[in-house]
Amino acid sequence: MTILVTGGAGFIGSNFIFHMLAKYPDYRIVCLDKLTYAGNLSTLASVMDNPSFRFVKLDICDRQGVYRLFEEEHPNMVVNFAAESHVDRSIENPEVFLQTNILGTQVLMDACRKYGIDRFHQVSTDEVYGDLPLDQPDLFFTEDTPIHTSSPYSASKAGADLLVLAYHRTFGLPVTISRCSNNYGPYQFPEKLIPLMIANALNDKPLPVYGQGLNVRDWLYVEDHCIAIDLILHRGRVGQVYNIGGHNEMRNIDIVKIICAALGKSESLITHVTDRKGHDMRYAIDPAKIHNQLGWLPETKFADGIRKTIRWYLDNREWWEEIISGEYRNYYERMYGGR
Ligand code: NAD
Ligand code: TYD
Repeated sequence: MTILVTGGAGFIGSNFIFHMLAKYPDYRIVCLDKLTYAGNLSTLASVMDNPSFRFVKLDICDRQGVYRLFEEEHPNMVVNFAAESHVDRSIENPEVFLQTNILGTQVLMDACRKYGIDRFHQVSTDEVYGDLPLDQPDLFFTEDTPIHTSSPYSASKAGADLLVLAYHRTFGLPVTISRCSNNYGPYQFPEKLIPLMIANALNDKPLPVYGQGLNVRDWLYVEDHCIAIDLILHRGRVGQVYNIGGHNEMRNIDIVKIICAALGKSESLITHVTDRKGHDMRYAIDPAKIHNQLGWLPETKFADGIRKTIRWYLDNREWWEEIISGEYRNYYERMYGGR
């Protein structure tokens, strides 16, 4: 079994590679990653010498390169994590989101058609459903909720999802799609809420909460997402979409306060800044389908997951300090300077 994992030098893809190599020692895992600002080869240092693992620096939009890799490796499955993944960056510059997230997905699926594949799995997001109101807590996203996107990021992910389903219907490509809620855990790039707040708090810098901080996200520990994708690959039904989430809705402001408390930092670091354009209010997944059909349930409670995550950022300061001392400083200034 050879699995091609795209975007494996990023947050969730790397955690998925660790999960798969540990659980299936006889599988070959080939990681394809362009190493954009979000990809970090040092993240994969612990598996680089593993004979079951190969890393290839490649853009999923590079058709010839992707075809060459398929000729070399003949993967049985592709798991597509590669994407531009940050909403704020998509508001600043949508184009690369359409290129990578939609056209890159097309190139991968064309390669799957040309060389044959047992499964193409698209890693998608609950953000394709748009958002839910705060005053109707009984509403959740199901797989039948209409696509209704808010940001260029979510629109590009929705475009890819529709293309994946079209390749299944038109060409019979054996696809599955998972739509997960917000992940947190080790190796998340410090532009996202939880690692950004941990890094800023540790450096006694302001904690920039967008608007009032009342927006709700449904947080899932990254390992639980990886377990769910593993299950879908092995037992999921071709042509199906699976929502992944653990009924763990929290307001942004409460997450930031938890981080302050855990690090012994004053809440006076919290600074309310101008809200994100088009800011989604609430995401909430109904995971009944994956629970009923595949028996998946999240294993890590938020209290444990956030403790492990904070511990990881404390123990791996060099990983994120190197990131925030580079090009990230320009990003931070553009995004937060005078906000
Ligand atoms: P990330 O930004 O941490 O990592 C993305 C990886 O993709 C990076 O290693 C980057 O170098 C690589 N990449 C980007 N463009 C590429 C290209 N053109 N060719 C090859 N590689 C490229 O993202 P993440 O948080 O790990 O998210 C992974 C996937 O999961 C994405 O598809 C995202 O939409 C989805 N997702 C993320 C979350 C979340 O909370 N982070 C939730 C649900 C779904
Ligand atoms: P983020 O981690 O960017 O994920 P997403 O927008 O894909 O859900 O943001 C999570 C929430 O945190 C979102 O409501 C925006 C908010 N947020 C802040 O308040 N301040 C910040 O500096 C960041 C990065 C996010």
